[in-house]
Amino acid sequence: MVIKSAYGFALAAALSVLTLPALAQDNDTDAISRGRAVATAGDCSACHQDHRPGGSAFGGGLEIVSPVGSIYASNITPDKQHGIGAWTFEQFRDAMTKGESPTKGMLYPAMPYTAYTNMSDDDLHALYTYLMTGVQPSDHEPPVTELPFPFVRQAMHAWNLLFLHTAGSAGATAPAGSVARGQYVAQALEHCSTCHTPRNDFFAENTSKLLSGAQVGSWFAPNITSDKTGIGAWSDEELTQFLTQGHNDHASAGGDMGLAVQRSLSRLPPEDIRALVAYLRSLPPVSTPHAAGRAHAPAPVDVAAVEPQQHFDIATLANGSSRDGAQLYQSACAACHAANGTGTVDKTHPDLASNSTVLLASPNNLILTIAEGVHRTVNGQKTAMPGFSADLNNAQIAALATYVRQTIGGLASSPAITVEDVVRVRGGDVQQNWLTHYAKPLAIVGLIVLAIIVLLIGSRLKRRKVIPN
Ligand code: HEC
Ligand code: HEC
Ligand code: HEC
Repeated sequence: MVIKSAYGFALAAALSVLTLPALAQDNDTDAISRGRAVATAGDCSACHQDHRPGGSAFGGGLEIVSPVGSIYASNITPDKQHGIGAWTFEQFRDAMTKGESPTKGMLYPAMPYTAYTNMSDDDLHALYTYLMTGVQPSDHEPPVTELPFPFVRQAMHAWNLLFLHTAGSAGATAPAGSVARGQYVAQALEHCSTCHTPRNDFFAENTSKLLSGAQVGSWFAPNITSDKTGIGAWSDEELTQFLTQGHNDHASAGGDMGLAVQRSLSRLPPEDIRALVAYLRSLPPVSTPHAAGRAHAPAPVDVAAVEPQQHFDIATLANGSSRDGAQLYQSACAACHAANGTGTVDKTHPDLASNSTVLLASPNNLILTIAEGVHRTVNGQKTAMPGFSADLNNAQIAALATYVRQTIGGLASSPAITVEDVVRVRGGDVQQNWLTHYAKPLAIVGLIVLAIIVLLIGSRLKRRKVIPN
C-alpha cells in the first residue's frame, strides 16, 4: 500500500519506567494502557502498519511518496535488530521530538515529529512503555529510504533549525474539554495540521494559514477553520458527528480522513472530542478560494430524458461507450444518491448537492471518491460506496464528475473536470515546486559559492600572515 502525500545519545535509560522493574506491576499496566491510548490518538499505525498479510500494526514498510522520492515508514516494534527494541527512552524521545534517530540519523518530516514535538514527557513515557512491552516484536525489515542530493538526512539539521517549533505541552494536563486540551490533542497527538495546513516551498507548514486547507498526496484536506469557506456553517454537534462517525449532513470522510476517523478519532474519549471542537472553534477563520456552501435547491431531473438504460447497469458502462455525464450518473449513481442527487431520507446515502466533496474547488476528492469509493468501518459499523475504477474509464469519470459538480452541485460556472485532471489525480498528483526542480543545481551553486568564500577567506588570512608588522 502506498500513501502519496502532500513529514548525542545517552547510554543510560536513567529514569525510564522500564529500567526500574522494582516499580509496582500496576504502574506498568497502567502506563501500557495509557501508552496504547496515546498511540491511538497519535494514529501511529496509519503509517507504521505493516500491510503484508498478518503484518504488525507497527512493523513499518509503508511507502510515502514525496515530491523528492519515496520515504519508508520504520519498524517501531521492540525487535532489537529491525525495530526500536534496543533504544533508551531518551533516544525514543529525541526521535519523537527532535527527529533524531540513533540508527537512521536525522528523520524526514514525513514522520510528523513536527507535531509530536509538543507531546508531554508523561505521554512519551507511556508511549515508550507501551511500544516496548505491550507490542510484539516483528522482524520485518522495511526498504531503505534513499533520497537524492541535496535532500540528504544531514540537511534536516538546517530544516529543523528553521521550521521545527515547539508550542509546548501545557495543554496535556489542561481541564477536560478545554480549548487548551483541544490544542494539545490536535497539535501533539492527532497532528491535524500536517494534512490540513498549507506548506511553504520548503515543505514546512505555513502557520499563518493554520488548518485552512492543503493537498495531501492526491486528496485535498479542506479548510477547517470557522470561515464560511471552511466549516463555519457546521454546528458543534455536526462537527462532533463528523469526527466520531465520519459523516454528517455536509461531508463524508473518505481517503486518509476516513482512516483517521476509523483508527483514531472514533476511539478518543468524548471529552477529548469536546476539547477538539472547542479548539477548532477558537481558531482565527481563514478565507480561502475553495468554493463551498451554497443555497440548497437541487434542480429536478428529467430521468426519462437522460436514462434510456436501466438503473445501475454497470455492464453498459464498462464498454466505455457513454460519455454523457447525466446518463452515466443515472446508471452508476442514482440508485443510491437518487435521480437528482438528494440522497436517501435517512442520510445513509448523502445528498450530493450539499456535500463538501462535490462543492470544493479542487476536483481531487470527487474524482477519487468516484474511482475508489468510500470504505470506512467505525465501531463495527461499515459504510461503503463501491469504487468505479474498473467500470468507468478516465473520460467517463471526467464527464460524470463535471455533471455532478455543475448540475447536481449547482456550480454551473465552475470549470469542467478534464481527462487530464483525472489522469493526474489518479496517477498520484505529487506536486512539484521550484525547490524540487532546482534543488540540485542550487545546492551545487551554493557549494561552489561556499568554496569560493572559504578560498577568499583563506587567502586573506594567508596575506595577513605575510604582511610584516
Ligand atoms: C504520517 C505518517 C507517520 C505517522 C502518523 C507516524 N510516523 Fe513514525 N515514521 C514515519 C516515517 C515515514 C518514518 C521514517 C522516517 C525516515 O526514514 O526519515 C518514521 C519513523 C519513526 C521513528 C524512527 C524509527 C527509526 O528507525 O529511526 C519512530 C520512533 C517513530 N516513527 C515513531 C512513531 C510513533 C510512536 C508514532 C505515533 C505517535 C508515529 N511514529 C507516527 C511516519 C509516520
Ligand atoms: C492524514 C491526513 C489527515 C489528518 C491527519 C486529518 N485530516 Fe481531516 N481531512 C483529510 C482529508 C483528505 C479530508 C477530505 C476527506 C473527504 O472529503 O473524503 C479531510 C476532511 C476533514 C473534514 C471535513 C471538511 C469538509 O469541509 O468536508 C474535517 C472537519 C476534518 N477533516 C477535520 C480534521 C481534524 C479536526 C483533524 C485532527 C483531529 C484531522 N481532520 C486530521 C485529511 C486529514
Ligand atoms: C451502492 C450505493 C452507492 C453508489 C452506487 C454510489 N454511492 Fe456515493 N456514496 C455512498 C455511500 C454509502 C457514501 C458514504 C456515506 C457516508 O460517508 O456516510 C457515499 C458518498 C459519496 C460522496 C461523498 C464522499 C466524500 O468523501 O465526501 C460522493 C461525492 C459520492 N458518494 C458520489 C457518488 C457518485 C458520483 C456515484 C456514481 C459514480 C456514487 N456516489 C455511487 C453510496 C453509493
